[in-house]
Amino acid sequence: MAGKGFKVAIIGCGFVGASAAFAMSINNLVSEMVLIDVNKEKAYGEALDINHGLSFVGQMNVYSGDYSDCKDCDIIVVTAGANRKPGETRLDLAKKNVSIMKDITANIMKHYNKGVILVVSNPVDILTYMVQKWSGLPANKVIGSGTVLDSSRFRNHIAGILNVDVKNVHGYIIGEHGDSQLPVWSATHIAGTKFDSYISKNNIAVDKDKIIADVKTAGGVIIKNKGATYYGIALSINRICESLLKNYNTIMPIGTVVNGPYGISDVALSVPAVVNGNGCEKILEIDLTDAELKALLYSADQVKLVLDEVKN
Ligand code: NAI
Ligand code: 2OP
Repeated sequence: MAGKGFKVAIIGCGFVGASAAFAMSINNLVSEMVLIDVNKEKAYGEALDINHGLSFVGQMNVYSGDYSDCKDCDIIVVTAGANRKPGETRLDLAKKNVSIMKDITANIMKHYNKGVILVVSNPVDILTYMVQKWSGLPANKVIGSGTVLDSSRFRNHIAGILNVDVKNVHGYIIGEHGDSQLPVWSATHIAGTKFDSYISKNNIAVDKDKIIADVKTAGGVIIKNKGATYYGIALSINRICESLLKNYNTIMPIGTVVNGPYGISDVALSVPAVVNGNGCEKILEIDLTDAELKALLYSADQVKLVLDEVKN
């Protein structure tokens, strides 16, 4: 059997879950992958389809199953629920997906014996918070995909404007995976050169407000054009899972319940954190300008406003 002996469950085999499963199969990341969906035919069909490509990437045990298969999983990825419809905000989704997620959490916990729960369904910050509370697991064991996708969009956008390899662009979007998110310009650099210094030395005119707006509206633009977003998030999920499974200590802005750092408490949002086999090993308190900290606190408040509505 090829693979590294890891077992992952993906709950929800729609656009996002199926694309993530496909990405993980291409990367031969796990030895066992179980697909679970309320629509059993869909999960079965996706598993079968992925199996038919394994001869090109290596042996894995990919199958459709049920919640009892969550036992012994290293990661349980949750992508089930409704996606955002054109014109709908992520926060509009909250009420719809909270009740779905409550059932799913209860079903997972009947069989859970180890591993990290990775929440992807939207609104991801709200659902990460609720799943951590409902599951009773320690905060490090329940993480959200948070602004990993937004940060990738941010880097991609900057790479395009500056005409450099995206891997040389470092920077984070933090806060809510939604409208109140913010870029940490002060920590954004191009292969070690601070962003502002890079553009001034190279005489490049940059409209920062447009970059922020483009990143923020990217999901909506994709939804308007093709109905749903899934490739970007699928590779984000693959990357987070790789860091978890291979114990990489990768620093990335996953979603986590924050209690203390940055003066924020009792809310889930994204800040740079060390991700390894323990899940969210450590939240990093990076240097922020006063304006950035203010914007982060505002973002936390925005998430809390929705949480207050759905908590009860
Ligand atoms: P989709 O509608 O294609 O798939 C959702 C799947 O969930 C369906 O197969 C459905 O049968 C299943 N499902 C519904 N209720 C279930 C339950 N109780 N138990 C098990 N399965 C259930 O939706 P899509 O496009 O895959 O999106 C899934 C979620 O991911 C949405 O909430 C979407 O907003 C979110 N998303 C999050 C992103 C992020 O960056 N956090 C990026 C893109 C999407
Ligand atoms: C995205 O940002 C819709 O949350 C989803 O692609």
